[in-house]
Amino acid sequence: MKPDLRITDPDDFEKVVARQCMTLGYEVVMPTKNNPGYDIELIKGKERIAVQVKCHKAKQNTGQYKKFVAFLELPIASNFTSGWFISQSGYSKNVLALAEADREPNLRLGTSSQGGIKWNYDPDLAPGESPEKEEEEDADEKNVKDEAVKYFGIFTCKGGVGKTTVAAHLAGAFAIMGYDVILLDLDPDRNLRKLFLQDQDSDEDASLYIPPNKKGFSGATITVLNADEWDERSYSEKVVICDCSPVLSENPKYLIRKFDYCVIPTTLNPLGIAKNGDVITRTFKHIRKMNNKAEMFCLINSYSGAQSYEERNKHLLALVEKPIKEYQKNDPKCQLIHPDYVKIRESRALRYWGYHLVDGSPPQLAFKSVANRSAPRTDFMQLAEYLEDHTSITSTRDLD
Ligand SMILES: Nc1ncnc2c1ncn2[C@@H]1O[C@H](COP(=O)(O)OP(=O)(O)O)[C@@H](O)[C@H]1O
Ligand SMILES: [Mg+2]
Repeated sequence: MKPDLRITDPDDFEKVVARQCMTLGYEVVMPTKNNPGYDIELIKGKERIAVQVKCHKAKQNTGQYKKFVAFLELPIASNFTSGWFISQSGYSKNVLALAEADREPNLRLGTSSQGGIKWNYDPDLAPGESPEKEEEEDADEKNVKDEAVKYFGIFTCKGGVGKTTVAAHLAGAFAIMGYDVILLDLDPDRNLRKLFLQDQDSDEDASLYIPPNKKGFSGATITVLNADEWDERSYSEKVVICDCSPVLSENPKYLIRKFDYCVIPTTLNPLGIAKNGDVITRTFKHIRKMNNKAEMFCLINSYSGAQSYEERNKHLLALVEKPIKEYQKNDPKCQLIHPDYVKIRESRALRYWGYHLVDGSPPQLAFKSVANRSAPRTDFMQLAEYLEDHTSITSTRDLD
């Protein structure tokens, strides 16, 4: 096996990149903390370069690329003559293709290794001219440090009630709010990963860029990773959403123990409730056996808003609520989110979400507005706001 020379500490990697830039003749300014959009500033004559440094195991993805390009177009970046994106792990094929297609004149993509920085995209080279070939990567030791990363597990023992749908669109709602989100695909079916692939023929880039909803921001990214690609120390993302396997034991134990919050989707479905009315409390118990800190939220999904169903919904809700109230007496950190506050309505947009896999179009969420409205978008924004109010994720905002 070849030795793994990868640097795992992002600060160390940043210093290495800074030294490599110095050897290229640049004066290096390490900005004071909390600069949005870049990590190092380079100066040479009239040139001023914003350098974004990424010390990841997985290759840089489309979402991260688009966010950096958006940053370079912001007024706060107008002092810079160009931007460099320096990665340790290289770039997905989609990013390289996008960069070649965009041909941004003041952007460079580079990969830093022991031998220095190799340019993967350089606007001064003609299209297709000698972008450096990338080397295969080895997995390295998990190096997990508990920081302020907040973990959400989307879990229930029951299949088909919307775990994957909720995980993806909750990530979308958080991204609209400005959080960069990691989506961990823990289900062996790998549905989530497939749904976010930029190129269905290649497994390396599962991501989505969410443009900003306010002027002056550079938007946010959703990056889908497998459990073995995720490493808290090398990513700056602080919100991790796990799409779990319904078989609890199939999920990595160390991740279940890390869940700060669990969202447990359920439906008001008479057959389901009659047959196993205790599925929610069983799920609570199941998780609690392995994790005694997680706060758990049961969420009603596929809610039929039609007025003629109001009465039925009320009765079904009472049946779901009763065992939860009973259970809560011993475990107050478990709750039902009352549908008066938040529910995910049944919608065609969600039912048909994933059609891009059939027609081959790029990944997207089911947030598209029809007549200026999108029920899923409204519902998931309400869920994200509810969770912001009932968790401590806002504390992660100032860290990045
Ligand atoms: N609110 C909703 N409205 C309409 N269809 C939904 C809704 N939520 C989920 N679905 C559909 O239900 C099916 C199962 O959802 P999925 O997220 O794959 O569940 P799980 O991951 O729990 O197996 C999918 O076909 C999905 O499109
Ligand atoms: Mg699923």
